[in-house]
Formats: sequence, structure tokens, C-alpha cells
Amino acid sequence: MDDLKLRDSDDIQGDVIAGFKKDQMTLLFLKFEDEARARTWVKGLEPQISTTRQVATFNAAFSKARKASAGDDPKTLKATWINVSFTCAGLRELTGKDPLPSVRPGSGLEAFKQGSAKRALGDTGDSSPEMWLFGNGKGQVVHAVLTVASDTVQDLQAMVRQQREACAAAKIVIVFQQDAATLPGSRRGKEHFGFKDGVSEPGVIGFDEPDPGKPEYVKGHHGTRLIPPGEFVVGHDRVGGESHETPDWADNGTFQVVRRLGQDVPGFWSQVAGQLKVLKEAKVVPPEATSEWLAARLVGRWRSGTPVATCPNADRPSNALAGDDNDFGYRNDPEGFITPLFSHLRCTNPRDGLQEKPGDPPFNENPVMDRRRIIRRGAPYGAPFDPASEGPGGPDEKRGLLFVCYQSDLVQQFEFIQKAWIDSPDFPPNRPNKPGPDGMVGAAGTLSYESPGKTTQLSMSQFVVTEGSVYAFVPSLTLLRLLGDGRLTDKPPADVRPTDAFLPIPDMQRINGKSWYWAYGTGADGDAVCRTLSIADGDEHTDVRERPDRPLSTWPCYAGVKKVDAILPVPDEQRINGRSRFWLFHTIEGRQVYRKISIADGAESGPLERSAAIDLPDRSLSAWVSFNGIESVDAFLPVPDMQRVDGKSWYWVFHTVMDRQVYRLVSVADGRMHQDNLERGDRGLDLWRSLAGITWVDEFLAVPDMQRINGMSLFWVFHQDTYRIIVIRDGHGHEDQVTVEDRPLTMWRSLTG
Ligand code: HEM
Repeated sequence: MDDLKLRDSDDIQGDVIAGFKKDQMTLLFLKFEDEARARTWVKGLEPQISTTRQVATFNAAFSKARKASAGDDPKTLKATWINVSFTCAGLRELTGKDPLPSVRPGSGLEAFKQGSAKRALGDTGDSSPEMWLFGNGKGQVVHAVLTVASDTVQDLQAMVRQQREACAAAKIVIVFQQDAATLPGSRRGKEHFGFKDGVSEPGVIGFDEPDPGKPEYVKGHHGTRLIPPGEFVVGHDRVGGESHETPDWADNGTFQVVRRLGQDVPGFWSQVAGQLKVLKEAKVVPPEATSEWLAARLVGRWRSGTPVATCPNADRPSNALAGDDNDFGYRNDPEGFITPLFSHLRCTNPRDGLQEKPGDPPFNENPVMDRRRIIRRGAPYGAPFDPASEGPGGPDEKRGLLFVCYQSDLVQQFEFIQKAWIDSPDFPPNRPNKPGPDGMVGAAGTLSYESPGKTTQLSMSQFVVTEGSVYAFVPSLTLLRLLGDGRLTDKPPADVRPTDAFLPIPDMQRINGKSWYWAYGTGADGDAVCRTLSIADGDEHTDVRERPDRPLSTWPCYAGVKKVDAILPVPDEQRINGRSRFWLFHTIEGRQVYRKISIADGAESGPLERSAAIDLPDRSLSAWVSFNGIESVDAFLPVPDMQRVDGKSWYWVFHTVMDRQVYRLVSVADGRMHQDNLERGDRGLDLWRSLAGITWVDEFLAVPDMQRINGMSLFWVFHQDTYRIIVIRDGHGHEDQVTVEDRPLTMWRSLTG
């Protein structure tokens, strides 16, 4: 059908709106150890990712076969599905840069960037992040979550084994593995407390067929509202026509919440029995009410899924609709006499029964509630509780719900439900007696059981604890392919393009009042390029782009170089017999190496193939004694008055240790061996007055006509999208100072655009 276009999407991952709906599921929480290999892994994974079209087609065939066999699962229709998501740290690893450099405070993107452990989600005491099994921010960081789902344990295990092997080959650490599965026998489809789960899911416009008679609802699913797809998939229409705040690369992706929620099943049922007595003593419940009766009110549905709202007295397990019964509301029960206000259902979707204060007309369900919907895709983990068992089903067994949900805004959807509705004792607000937190999954607290003319207070402990939590982004297949190349976009870079490094063209320094450079950067297609620019002497230092970008791959001296990290002219090998030599630092498979290249005079005007060559092939940084402990050099700054003094040249070497840039002082001796020496160990950038406010210097460039003039040398300092000019004085202490404050990089016409 034309208006159900989302069913055909090969770009949206399959679990999001189509839903894997498999009996067996495993989540692998992954950490990348080697960025380049992780990208290769992403490339290999991409063709295995199940898309919405594949999953939707399979699910439709499955339902059809099931109907034809009066409800039995078709045994021959089987599938194993895979999806993947990345945390903000994971996207940073793959792309080598912050994917969200600025996020609005309070936005869903900020929540994603901070990660679940840093959000105040009521995860305290036994739920505190320090105790989590994954995502705690203390143990191993999680970069990606791989979801594997299958119809059978055998197929699942085979696929998980295969994925683990692929991870091992890519140096990816499995930080944690969480298995989950539908419970056996009569518990099938139920969560551990014993209630049918996954009944009320939002319908999605463009995916689910509307009911011809009631087009706001899903055909054949009375009561299931159709919600605009943008609530669950970024870049699509949202409720009220609002637009997403997310960058373009997020389109067709979604945000995923994964929470391992431990359930204390015996504790829950014993408390229910105890609180039932309180209600009976208060004579506010029928004398025949059982624990089942009260538990159903904590949930809002009976075990079978039958809503308390439509069937208040007893479960109707024979109700053919039970597990699919969503056609009800609370408009006639604003006080919660039938379905209590603290029931899990009213705390997670108040439907048409929410008033600002008692006596007010309830809110219009659309659009207030439509903005708070989530798509749930969790499954239980651990063996079901069996009071008679001392083994796997015993009371101490770890069990609970592997909660997974998708939404386009973490703050407005999942976090809102969790904080403002589940955990808040004052929801719905403005009641003389606070309703209390969610009676099934909320924190410990006092619940107000309302009956006509009377409020009875119940005391509930906490039966659900958070045992792990991660926020991740589920990329579109398009983005996944780009991530395999370390990119977020295939659009040409913005008009600001910082450079990676500069090479002063040896025979073209201060010729006719101009100095020429090769500036290295990343081209529109993500490959390393070099452009030629010139800088004029004089106050203005007018810069001109002399030649368009040329891909490095065309020059033999750059063979295999993906990105130039830094370049250092060999101090005593400049313009010797018409050739100059440079050490070129670049990164291969996540490891920085260096090579020595030589450039002949006249190279800029002649064919570079002949005028530039590799003198020494790539070598590990360990060949530099003075680089001990350096993983990757960011930039060099020559000490202006210490170049070739007593046969030695001195440099400040800027590099990054544990996400913090530091610098050290090294010297390089003239001579064939270029013996290097560590003169002073690492120090923080805060010791430089002129670098105040900079956390990371991209590159220094000596102002060509301002070197050692009256004992002072000037340098341009490039950092992010800005640059400043600093001055360094000759002499002991090398006093430094800012002479021109930060300006936007766009002032450099030769570098931008
Ligand atoms: C161990 C923890 C949890 C258990 C055992 C649990 C169990 C259930 C059950 C039995 C239902 C009724 C079946 C259905 O309508 O699908 C339900 C519904 C629901 N739950 Fe949970 N749940 C848990 C945690 C959460 C959390 C943390 C959230 C969100 C923050 C949540 C959101 C929802 C929503 C939105 C519904 C559907 C409400 C409706 O539309 O009527 N649940 N849950």
C-alpha cells in the first residue's frame, strides 16, 4: 500500500517499528579497542543488519500462517535478526570526533551525550550506577550494543558465536552479554510477576494500517492509536508538526534505552498479600478479593492482559482478545476507583483519564499523550520464579526484565515517563492525597488507594531495581555505511575547514614577500587532500589559496596516508643539494607512525611524483627515544631561539594523554642519526599563559616574517574553528602571551570554503 511506505524501508533498522518479536534475544555490549578495526567491523556488519522491510515482510507472513493454523506458531518460518546501536562515545570512536559538539541543555541529545549513568533517573541505593553490570561509567565503557534475536535457542547461539568471533577479530571487547527469552509454558508472553506484557504498543502512521471506520486507530487493534512516525524515527513527521533538533545524520535513526531491571518476584507477591489485608481491614475491597485482584490493580491489567478498566471483578483468561485488548480508557474513572492512579498502566500511559486537578475535564488524549509514547521491545531474563525450587527457579535467582525502548527524544519520552510519571509520588498532581509512585515498578512509597469517600494508604517497597542501563543511537543503514568509513555525512564539509598540518614549501619561503605552504585536510569525500596557499609578509598577512585541493593518494610520497597528523622539517636537512626532508606523522589502523619524505626544490611547480619521495618508510613512534609514552603527536612547536644551537634543535611536542592534551620538551641533534632526547617531561597546557582556554591545539604555524624580531616570535595557534596569535620571547622561560585573541577560522580565506 502506497501510504504504508515505512513498511518498505531498507534504511530503518528492523527492530524499531516492525519489531523482531522473537522468543530468544541476546544483547552484546561492546567496547572498541582499535578504531580502524572497529570501522572495518561496522562495514562487515552492515549487510547483516535486518531492515524494516525484511522484518515487516516476515512478521506479516508469520501472522498469516498463524491465523491459518488457529494460533499455532508456524514451525518452518524462522529467522534470526541483527540490529546495532552506538553510544555517543562509540560514535566518537568511529568518527574520531565529537558527533554532537553543541547540544541544547535539557534536550534529548544532551541526555544521549551524557549517557544513562549521569542522568538522575531515580537510580539510587540498590539501583545506583556503581552497582550496574554495564553502562556504569566506572567499568568498561560501552561503545555499541548488538541485538541478536531468533526463534530458537540453537539459531540464536550460533549467531551469537559468529558475532563474538567477528568482534574478537576486530579487537572489540564484549563488556557484557545479556540473554533474554520468552518465559516457558503458560508464562509465555508474560513478565516475571506473571502479567501479559507487550500488549499496548503505539501504532505508527505510515507503517500500521488505519481502521477504515476509525482512522486514528490501527485496523484490527481497537484502541491502539496511530502516532506520527517522527515520535519514534528521527526525520519524520512528529505530533503537532514539531521538528527534530537532531543533526541530519540522525535521520531514519532512533534513540534506544536498554535497562536491565531486576524483579523481586517473591517480595512483590508477599507485599501484595500484606497490603490486601490492610484494604480488607479498611473494608474498601470486596471480601472475596485475592492477591491476584490487588496485583491486577497495581498493573492495570489482569494476568491474561484483560484490562481492569473493562473487567474490574475478575480475570477473563478465556477472553480471546486478552493479550490484545487495548480498547479502553479511564475517562469514566478519573479518581482511579477502578484502575488506581498508581497502577503501572496509568503511570505509563494515562490515556484519556488525566486531569490537571480533580473536577477538571480530562486532557485531550491527542496530542498530549501522543508525545509521550515509546516503543517497547524488551524480554524477560532469568528463570521464572518457582517457590518450590532451590535451583534455577528459586527465590534468589536473578530475574527481571531486559527493558528496551525506542523513541526520537530521550527526555520527552522515556525519561519523562520514568521521572514525571513512574517515580513521582505526585502524579497525577493536585490531589489531596498524593497517588504515590508506580505501584509495580516505582520506588518505595505510600500509595493512596481511592474508593468512594475514602482513601486508604498502602505501603510499598521497591521490587524493581536497575542493574544496568545504556542510552544508544540506532543509526539508519545509510549512516551505518558512512560510519564504516569513519564519517557522519557524505555532504561536503561545512565552509570552515581546519587544517591537519602545514608544510612550508622549502624553496618558497619569503620569496617576493610571500611564503608558500601545503596545507593538509580532509576533502569532501573524506579523503586526505593537500592545497597550496600563500601568506604575504606585512601586517595583514593576506592569505591566498593558490591551488585547489589535490588528493594525497596521487602522490607516491603519501602512499597509504589517510590523514596527516603532524609534519616536522628535519632541522639540518633543509635545502641541502636542492632537497629538504620532513618527518611526516600519520595514523594507520589506529596507530600513529612516521615516515621521512624528501621534497626537491621546485616541487610546487614541477611534477610532484618526481620531486617528492619516501626516504624512510613508516616506522613506529618507539624509534623516538624522547617520545616514550606518546601514542600520537598532535602538533610541534619549534622553540624559536633553540634551533640548531650547538648542533641541537628543540621542540615542544603536543600530544594527548587520556583525552587531555599535554606537552613535553624534546631536542633533536643534527647529524645522520638525529639523536633525540627528552629534555623535560609532560606538563599541562595550563602552564602556557597564551593558550588559556584552549583544551586542544590542532596546529601551530610560525608567522613567516615575525620570527625572532626583537627577540620575539609569533605563531598562529589553530584550535577547533578558531585561531589566535601568540608571541614567544627568546631566552630562558620563553615568556608567552596572546597578541591577537581568538577569531573565527573563516578569516582565513585560503583555508575555508
Ligand atoms: C520490571 C519492570 C517492568 C515490568 C515488569 C513491566 C510490566 C508491564 C506490564 C505487565 C504491562 C501491561 C501490558 C501492556 O500493556 O503492554 C506494561 C505496560 C507498559 N509499560 Fe511496563 N513494565 C516495566 C517497566 C516499565 C518501564 C521502566 C517503563 C517506561 C519507563 C514501562 C512502560 C510501559 C508502558 C508505556 C506500558 C503500556 C501502557 C499502556 O499503553 O497502557 N514499563 N508494563
